[in-house]
Amino acid sequence: MAKLLYPTSLPLDVQSLEGFSVALHPYDVTVPIPDEHTDAEFLVTWANAAGNLKDAAQRLKKLRWIQSLAAGPNDVLNAGFDTSRIIVTTGSGLHDGPVAEHTLGLLLNAARRFNEMTEYQLRGKWPGHLGGSFPRSDFTTLRGSNVLIWGYGNIAKELTSFLVPLGAKVRGIARTAGVRNGVEVLSDDKLPEVLPETDALVMILPGHPSTNDALNAEKLKLLPKHAWVVNVGRGTSVDEDALADALEKGDIGGAALDVFKTEPLPESSRLWKTPNLIISPHAAGGRPEGCEELIAHNLRRILASQPLKNVIN
Ligand SMILES: NC(=O)c1ccc[n+]([C@@H]2O[C@H](COP(=O)([O-])OP(=O)(O)OC[C@H]3O[C@@H](n4cnc5c(N)ncnc54)[C@H](OP(=O)(O)O)[C@@H]3O)[C@@H](O)[C@H]2O)c1
Repeated sequence: MAKLLYPTSLPLDVQSLEGFSVALHPYDVTVPIPDEHTDAEFLVTWANAAGNLKDAAQRLKKLRWIQSLAAGPNDVLNAGFDTSRIIVTTGSGLHDGPVAEHTLGLLLNAARRFNEMTEYQLRGKWPGHLGGSFPRSDFTTLRGSNVLIWGYGNIAKELTSFLVPLGAKVRGIARTAGVRNGVEVLSDDKLPEVLPETDALVMILPGHPSTNDALNAEKLKLLPKHAWVVNVGRGTSVDEDALADALEKGDIGGAALDVFKTEPLPESSRLWKTPNLIISPHAAGGRPEGCEELIAHNLRRILASQPLKNVIN
């Protein structure tokens, strides 16, 4: 009977996975897979130590399918698995609600400057410039603001469902243009046209060579001075030095980053001292929802030799 290894790094309702002709075994993601389980054909991953994955890539010779519960399984892709033979499926869709909620929080913070209020409070100072009858900035509310979401996939759609009722005007950028859930989605060659009209740019791009430093100095220059940048995708998609330069020169209004090129962010990083920057410690996701349904769906399909959901392409 084929063997599926599931991680103990998150609570899973394993009973709901029973009934397939598969033996289910828990494993510890922080240490190498025990010898008796190196014959596993299916592996579910979540928050695995780099050493565990690297070791599994060498020793799990019969592996046919890896179901990552992360939306962006860069850890699995960088571990050395033979992906010409092994199907890798992502956890895209499991994080939509949590990441969209966190992003909404960062956007509200950008418009309302709660972080700046806290800084003043800690110094016993009244942040008068943030209150009064007429706050002086071009981005003080989501109502009527232009929000551009670069990487218009599952999380973006959920975020849009939060933003539209608040009165924001949402547009997206993706590889293919079109209308998705009633939102205009453009291809990235349209960025020079839309960036100058953007109040908040939300980056939700996957980590991939094609997205490396997507937001660079040239693109940052196109944003209005009051615009905020929020990144909840992958740190590799933002040129961090160019962003820090833009913030230091006051070329953009602010930024909120949940993801970084190196995590945890090194103590030596200039970002710690960059003005108008909110640092969020990769806290947007981390709470996958509906894992059992996705695992069961793909398990049923691989056992029936049918195409799986969320295959990396
Ligand atoms: N901060 C966190 O805690 C957290 C949690 C979960 C996920 N994430 C990150 O968020 C990313 C997106 O997740 P998702 O579930 O929304 O993924 P998704 O549904 O696959 O959406 C990704 C979107 O990015 C677009 N895209 C991909 N490459 C592109 C490129 N080179 N140029 C322009 N657009 C490009 C895709 O365009 P098409 O639709 O045209 O293909 C798609 O719209 C994940 O890959 C992960 O890295 C972060």
